[in-house]
Amino acid sequence: MPLVNSKEMFQKAYEGGYAVGAFNVNNMEIVQAITEAAGALNSPVILQVSSGARKYANAKYLIHMVKAACENFPELPIVLHLDHGDSFELCKSCIDDGFTSVMIDGSHLPYEDNVALTKKVCDYAHDVAARGRYVTVEGELGRLAGIEDAVNVSDEDAQFTNPDEVQDFVTRTGVDSLAIAIGTSHGAYKFKPGQNPKLRLDILDEIARRLPGFPIVLHGASSVPQDYVKIINEHGGNMPDAIGIPEDQLREAAHRAVCKINIDSDLRLGMTAAIRLHFATHPDHFDPRQYLTDGRNNVRNVVTHKIKNVLGSENKA
Ligand code: G3H
Ligand code: 13P
Ligand code: ZN
Repeated sequence: MPLVNSKEMFQKAYEGGYAVGAFNVNNMEIVQAITEAAGALNSPVILQVSSGARKYANAKYLIHMVKAACENFPELPIVLHLDHGDSFELCKSCIDDGFTSVMIDGSHLPYEDNVALTKKVCDYAHDVAARGRYVTVEGELGRLAGIEDAVNVSDEDAQFTNPDEVQDFVTRTGVDSLAIAIGTSHGAYKFKPGQNPKLRLDILDEIARRLPGFPIVLHGASSVPQDYVKIINEHGGNMPDAIGIPEDQLREAAHRAVCKINIDSDLRLGMTAAIRLHFATHPDHFDPRQYLTDGRNNVRNVVTHKIKNVLGSENKA
């Protein structure tokens, strides 16, 4: 089937008490691995492209690779989503290029500026009369800590989403989903050793009470699998104290109002661990197809694990 937007996908996820995985794509192997896992488990899936991915791979390559995946899995609902769009112009360009969903991330702006920017993107994306299709828009309120496209938000600058703002924001902007900050953060170093990694599910529930039936998004939701960190550190890597979100808390969030869970760092760790292991065990190899096969297989393992054990989206396509 052609690419879809996230409207119906999120409605089903909300009603079914599960979440759809939004995985970042940067190259062909990652696109293949994610869609092979989703295809084998009959799971809906979101492939998201960041500004950094556009710079690395060239947007056109990524769009065509995602479209190729749609052809390979004609029964699978796949969304092509812009991750962390930072301007109207970038969102417009992705919409014009065929993306079916965009995020406009105005979370760093003063509240009224975030409302105005998000509304401007929604007005363009939702104009079915002008472009013949409805593109879904994700907005964000609250501020996650961590690294994102070379911007490092310190723990002190991070802010939980204020439930008092969410109704006003959604009504005035027209967004289709809302990313919130409840203790997740970007990157592989989400907590300090000895810290108690805990999400503020009470804030999530209060937001859900204010926005009944409305899809909520969690960014920064990688779990940083410790077996991969160990493989990386034992084979030449240096990732001391990399710690992620416990999976049981993400499962809990997926049962509640969270319909989209963003995962990037865990794919990077899976790919890197497999490639480091490959080089350590095959020092004579120099054909990228050899080590990238292991990398791709392990990204597929990560996505399979997430769909089955965290998201609950198996057989929901
Ligand atoms: O939220 C950020 C994603 O992990 C994308 O990361 O900007 O390095 O591509 P990137
Ligand atoms: P992680 O760094 O936790 O994988 O978060 C990814 C993300 O939020 C992409 O938007
Ligand atoms: Zn993010």
